Amino acid sequence: MLTQDELKTQVGQAALKYVVPGEIVGVGTGSTVNKFIDALASIKGQIKGAVSSSVASTERLLALGIPVFDANAVDALAVYIDGADEIDGHGYMIKGGGAALTREKIVAALSRQFVCIADESKRVQTLGKFPLPVEVIPMAAQRVARQFAALGGVATLRVKNGQPLVTDNGQHILDVTGLQIADPLAFESKVNQWPGVITVGVFAHQRAQVCLLGTPQGVVTLTY
Ligand code: 5RP
Repeated sequence: MLTQDELKTQVGQAALKYVVPGEIVGVGTGSTVNKFIDALASIKGQIKGAVSSSVASTERLLALGIPVFDANAVDALAVYIDGADEIDGHGYMIKGGGAALTREKIVAALSRQFVCIADESKRVQTLGKFPLPVEVIPMAAQRVARQFAALGGVATLRVKNGQPLVTDNGQHILDVTGLQIADPLAFESKVNQWPGVITVGVFAHQRAQVCLLGTPQGVVTLTY
């Protein structure tokens, strides 16, 4: 029986075949992506470099000798490789468990193809069991929390070392439980309009086109 860590290693390695030689690849954030970055180091001579979605991924890429480009330096990327906290049967995802959702959505939007890498525990029928991360401007946090309460959700400010977690963008994260996200496209559009919301962790407009799912039987490729 493979461990969850081994499943992540498998999908991280499997994602290499989506990397286009001679190009810059979009790189996500998280423990699964860390496996991908480690695998990417083995072909670093074949790519120009990466656009990264977080300080943590940038540090890992640079430590392995992979050049990192500013997102503003590229017009488009062929592919973005990232993990997810949940993925449904349409390639819609919840992301942001690692607090990198805003930069992840920016790099995903720059990319022609989103390849999600995940172990099979991330696959769901309906999004919403995983607490939904929402990056907010701190002064809006309580108002946004009340707006979620009106939808039946309970929003909790994410804390690290006894203090509100501060994202790479200097903002805060609300984690929202109790939501059943039946229409991810409409939900994402609605929450995006609330004042003070920077990014909602529903990735429906930036959904995955491919998911490499780690299972005990091997990597399963799902396309949407
Ligand atoms: C970070 C993310 C990650 O992709 C998501 O949390 C999955 O992480 P992991 O691969 O560690 O399970 O959205 O903001």
